[in-house]
Amino acid sequence: MAKKKIGILTGGGDAPGLNAVIYSFVRACMNTMDCELVGYKFGYRGLYKNDFIPLNLQTTNGIQHRGGTILYNSNKDNLFDYTVEENGQKVKKNVSQVAVDNMKKEGVDVLVVLGGDGTLTSARDFSRMGVNVIGVPKTIDNDLPATEITFGFDTAVNIVTENLGRLHTTAESHHRVMVVEVMGRSAGWIALHAGIAGSADVILIPEIPYTVDGIVKKINERKTEGKEFTIICVTEGAIEKGGSASVGKIVEDSPDAVRFGGVAAKIAHQLEQRIENEVRYCTLGHIQRGGETSPADRLLSARYGVKAAELVKEGKFGQMVALQNGVMTGVSLEDVIGDAKVSVSGAKIVDPNHELVKVAKQMGITFADA
Ligand code: F6P
Repeated sequence: MAKKKIGILTGGGDAPGLNAVIYSFVRACMNTMDCELVGYKFGYRGLYKNDFIPLNLQTTNGIQHRGGTILYNSNKDNLFDYTVEENGQKVKKNVSQVAVDNMKKEGVDVLVVLGGDGTLTSARDFSRMGVNVIGVPKTIDNDLPATEITFGFDTAVNIVTENLGRLHTTAESHHRVMVVEVMGRSAGWIALHAGIAGSADVILIPEIPYTVDGIVKKINERKTEGKEFTIICVTEGAIEKGGSASVGKIVEDSPDAVRFGGVAAKIAHQLEQRIENEVRYCTLGHIQRGGETSPADRLLSARYGVKAAELVKEGKFGQMVALQNGVMTGVSLEDVIGDAKVSVSGAKIVDPNHELVKVAKQMGITFADA
């Protein structure tokens, strides 16, 4: 078999586990194939600018446990709709052919892309241009339907759970209500898992619109039980009944421009008008994506990385690695992207009848929907 030259990039936002995938992928490739590896910097921007570093046992040494990515991220560099300057003006252009030409020039014959829906959509489009592409899905939100679980999710759940514990002790000391905003966009998986594991009293998720009455009812119930503090875990994209999600900012150039934010502050303000206890809010934000990758995510990332190397070796291109029925497999990028199954509009969200919703309810946790 001819020596392969493989390029890797990490697109979109970072997620704990990206380094662990790079780590396992590089090792699996080097142990099973005659190959050379390069890593493009800042996602597709590196491919456009032909900016890469060599990847080998030395350059990837000691990265398995580290969050973030040694290849850096960018969530703004869609080469099919790229901002370039022409005659002093900023214009949008399709510069994908430059990337393909750069790969040819360097002799890179396989491209492995780690990213979310936007990054994987471009991966599919490069595949259509004849590039040998393998996709590896990532998001802490765990909202991609084509795969059962994405790396980064477990780490985020651990961080939120730990912080809910920390907030309990200060909330109890001051007899306060604490509203904790967590990531997840329009999917409530992080709040649901961490809310149960971290003993939240109220979990608010986008899939089950809440009422302020429902939250106040729970706070008052707890008071009658002698508990003067309440912990509320809310997904950033949660919606009040009849209302809409709180938008924090719009990031121009990002495939998914809307960033949610502000729902915890809004709820805290609403509660202050209705209850005697003091209310404080806390947005965990990017802390949820930082630091060390959890052991479970390192293990999952190892499986994703090794499966990606297997697909490269077998020449199964145009595929995305997915966990289905507990088994690592390859699914066609055309199927998962073409059907919008990994796009935000087709996100894997929490079914209000999900077992964990029932578990939470039976433990006395409310979703404040009544
Ligand atoms: O999709 C992952 C995610 O962390 C979301 O949970 C969050 O809304 C968003 O990315 C934040 O994006 P950014 O890093 O651009 O602020």
